[in-house]
Amino acid sequence: MQKTIKRQTSYKILSAYLVTVALLSGCASGQLGKNNSGEYKNGMVVSAHPEASEVGIEILKKGGNAIDAAVAVQFALAVVYPNAGNIGGGGFMVYRSADGEVNALDFREKAAKSASRDMYLDSAGNPIIDKSLYGHLAVGVPGSVDGMVEAHKKYGKLSWAQVLQPAIDLAQNGFKITKRQAGELNGLHHKFMQFNPNGTAFVNLESTWQENDLLVQKELANTLKLIQEKGRAGFYEGAVADSIVAEMQLGKGLITKEDLKNYHAVWRKAITGNYRGYKIITMPPTSSGGIALVQLLQSVEPYPLKKWGHNADSTVQVIVEAERRVYADRAKHLGDPDFYAVPQMELTNPEYNKNRMANFNWAAATPSSAVLAGEVKGKEHEETTHYSIVDREGNAVSITTTLNGSYGSLVAVKGAGFLLNNEMDDFSVKPGAPNMYGLVGGEANAIAPNKRMLSSMTPSIVEKDGKLFMVVGTPGGSTIITSVFQTIINVIDFDMSMQSAVAAKKFHHQWLPDEVYVEKDALDSLTTQKLKSKGYIISPRGPIGRVDAILKTKWGYYQGGADPRGDDKAIGY
Ligand code: DON
Repeated sequence: MQKTIKRQTSYKILSAYLVTVALLSGCASGQLGKNNSGEYKNGMVVSAHPEASEVGIEILKKGGNAIDAAVAVQFALAVVYPNAGNIGGGGFMVYRSADGEVNALDFREKAAKSASRDMYLDSAGNPIIDKSLYGHLAVGVPGSVDGMVEAHKKYGKLSWAQVLQPAIDLAQNGFKITKRQAGELNGLHHKFMQFNPNGTAFVNLESTWQENDLLVQKELANTLKLIQEKGRAGFYEGAVADSIVAEMQLGKGLITKEDLKNYHAVWRKAITGNYRGYKIITMPPTSSGGIALVQLLQSVEPYPLKKWGHNADSTVQVIVEAERRVYADRAKHLGDPDFYAVPQMELTNPEYNKNRMANFNWAAATPSSAVLAGEVKGKEHEETTHYSIVDREGNAVSITTTLNGSYGSLVAVKGAGFLLNNEMDDFSVKPGAPNMYGLVGGEANAIAPNKRMLSSMTPSIVEKDGKLFMVVGTPGGSTIITSVFQTIINVIDFDMSMQSAVAAKKFHHQWLPDEVYVEKDALDSLTTQKLKSKGYIISPRGPIGRVDAILKTKWGYYQGGADPRGDDKAIGY
């Protein structure tokens, strides 16, 4: 098991340091940007790409607030991290101001007006898998640009032009690709050519991509300039909208000018819940993430996880059984709240979740076939990216954004230089048929015109004693919810530092298939044996999640957690 740095220990070192520095230099502690534990006082940005984190921190240093930095990071990621950073996709934001106001913004993509329930089924009524995954028909109406416009209009401090400029510069002048990116772009060469016969900036027609090659995206720079000049009209109307619609016509896609013009992000009431004295602020539907996160926390709260220990057999068993039940609920009850009455109050009621755990049996795994969604009375290849930001005042932003699969639908809008999402696959294309993450669903998440597809993205913020405590989120498809959940309990129950909690090995169960997915070295062999003897199917798999998070220590410093599973970077000042 990896070594964890106890927060208590770092507080003691920190307090000794603060006293010494204050005595020696007479500095007011507010002026100390960094302490010797690598924690920062004035602000922090943690994202999937060093260049994007740098953009965010520069905006904070210029006097921008967390929202200004978030908007700049969103556009910068669209340039330097095109696997998931996007203007052609969507996402969710959870916001907490320094004085405790909370808000949530849903800028999830929508189905086009002409989308229909059975659009991905063949004549025998079976799903045609690739149809919702690749190419023009997989694309939902993008929400990211309107989301950023809305967030900035409501809370931004710097000008719109200022927050767009760093991304324009990166697209115009190019940036050096990482080794990981060079490998991915080479691997996707043929797919990119299949969907973009005239090539795109991501295709190297002369040779193969190498680490540190400059990726210049002139068309994208022009698109970003239009968005800078015209705001939402620079994307949803005019030349860019024309290009999107022309692209759709090339590949029999559905999105029209009317779809683009009618797209609007929606402010929603954040979900809140409690866990061991901490307050969880998280994303409501159209994401399933917030409800499921609160359900998981409520399901395990009665159990002494801390006493059992991190990834000990009892801890794993309780968590897996909680996940099994929560994902069964997700499949039945969750969908776009503008189309389906999600029973949010009941699902997030502690009594409901306690009752769901009542048939859990220590002696043997509960078969998923025996777990149905709870009865509620009322009706009420992966790539996404998450970034967490806090500013000097203590405003916090948690954003998860995606094209869905890596590089989305692989369709780049000709002449406009950006990739379109393949988010339509997140709908339940047929009741019970798994999507690319193995998730199943039914009526609540069936395709309908203008409806948003259900998500697992779980941008979250945690408060302690009414004050900011943590900003957290991750990509990972269906594993997003369990990764955010495990990161939170790693800190609250197992006293890990933010970095250790992020790096800690994770495991995942999602009801169906009835298997426990386990990262390499997450469980020791004895624990694995004990679980297998109770009937759990343990399946090794690659990395789970790519969490980017920030913890505020009780001394008021920000501790970063940048996931070592990627090129992620925490930068503070
Ligand atoms: O919204 C969702 O739940 C998915 N489209 C997220 C995809 C994802 O996280 C892929 N990344 N690893």
